[in-house]
Amino acid sequence: MDTHRYMNPLASELNAVLDGTVTGRLLSSLGRRLFFPRGIIAQSNEAKQLAPVKNATIGMAFHQGQPLILSAISDAMPTLTAKEKVTYAPTAGVEEVRKAWKDSLVKKNPSLKPEGITLPAAVPGVTAGIAFVADLFLDETSTIIASDPCWDNYSLIFTERRDAKVRGVPFFGTGPGLDLVAIEAAIREEAKTGAVRIIFNFPNNPSGYSPTRAETDALVGIIRKTAENGADILVICDDAYFGLFYEDDIYRESLFSRLADLHEKVLAVKIDGPTKEDYVWGLRVAFVTFGSPGLKPEHQDALGKKLLGAIRSSVSCANTPAQYLILKVLSDPRTAGEKQANYELLRGRYRAVKAFIATHPAHPKLSPMPFNSGYFMSFRCNGIDAESLRKKLLAEHGIGTIALGPGILRVAFAALEEEQIAEIYGTIYEAAGKH
Ligand SMILES: Cc1ncc(COP(=O)(O)O)c(C=O)c1O
Repeated sequence: MDTHRYMNPLASELNAVLDGTVTGRLLSSLGRRLFFPRGIIAQSNEAKQLAPVKNATIGMAFHQGQPLILSAISDAMPTLTAKEKVTYAPTAGVEEVRKAWKDSLVKKNPSLKPEGITLPAAVPGVTAGIAFVADLFLDETSTIIASDPCWDNYSLIFTERRDAKVRGVPFFGTGPGLDLVAIEAAIREEAKTGAVRIIFNFPNNPSGYSPTRAETDALVGIIRKTAENGADILVICDDAYFGLFYEDDIYRESLFSRLADLHEKVLAVKIDGPTKEDYVWGLRVAFVTFGSPGLKPEHQDALGKKLLGAIRSSVSCANTPAQYLILKVLSDPRTAGEKQANYELLRGRYRAVKAFIATHPAHPKLSPMPFNSGYFMSFRCNGIDAESLRKKLLAEHGIGTIALGPGILRVAFAALEEEQIAEIYGTIYEAAGKH
């Protein structure tokens, strides 16, 4: 019997199966809370079977059936030295790799002041980085603001693993971009407790939106004002899809650039990595970087050691060959051109979706959420259940999409060929119209 104040029904189902067995009796409270969501990964697995050629579920970029891969990775993989292949990496990563990633951060975010941020620590993927930062800053007494909808793993990490509360705020209203009024209201309310914790993920999963320059100024202004009024603020920037910006008015740097030296009461964390930026989804390496004017060298050192404790006690260290491969990517003269070509390929797919929407009358049941970047776009479903539409698309048309709750259908256009897009979107519109 689960008496915890909150238990996901899927966890309760598993507990009911295990109750009365040795496993059930031995489970910890975290063990009781854990479950595997029927979300993105489960739906994506279904689509692999039923939608092999029209699979818009996956957060990877393919071309002609093959994943995109940079030459630096495919060439260097067989040539790594024994040291690069199998030695243990230091707990926070190979120093040379961490420095090279920091240099790349400053190149990609010219307004970032390198002396004001920590040396990025290597972790096994953005997911792990988020989990470690959650270990440091969230527990059953804390609340974190996240966009609603958001990447479904946030609730598994923050709610189930850390037992914290996620305050879902619709970051996107009915307007063309961010609902700054809703975001500010939520921050103001949390500030009454003395501390605000918030996660921003731009380009966003699932909406595919990144803030414009004006919206970035407004967000930074809200955070500055909150700090000036006395609250401590943790801002986590999940920059998994950094760089895939398809419109000119988007702010081209990470929000972290603007937050890292904003105010003594603001602690900014950038969690990013080559997973999507360098097309290496399965390599499993990413970086955690902190920035705050309040972080003096001794504080940086102490915070770094706290993070070391989180890494050491869970995964021990990140993958060594992956780190050396990233060093090769960063120093290979072919990388910039190849990344530009991949970007143009994905932007072509984005533009095909935009063109489809622009040339078709507004759909009565599907309204696109604002999107301008990243891998995805999502439809809000009006008067139609996203999950039953997803199932219909899969079973009757061999099209794989993701249903996020009853109200959102996510389409990963980055995983489709440009030539497929008009036909697939046409089928989605038609199927939804008849549903
Ligand atoms: C918003 C967001 N953050 C993090 C990740 C995961 O990144 P990684 O594969 O590096 O753990 C994803 C993608 O799957 C994502 O959509």
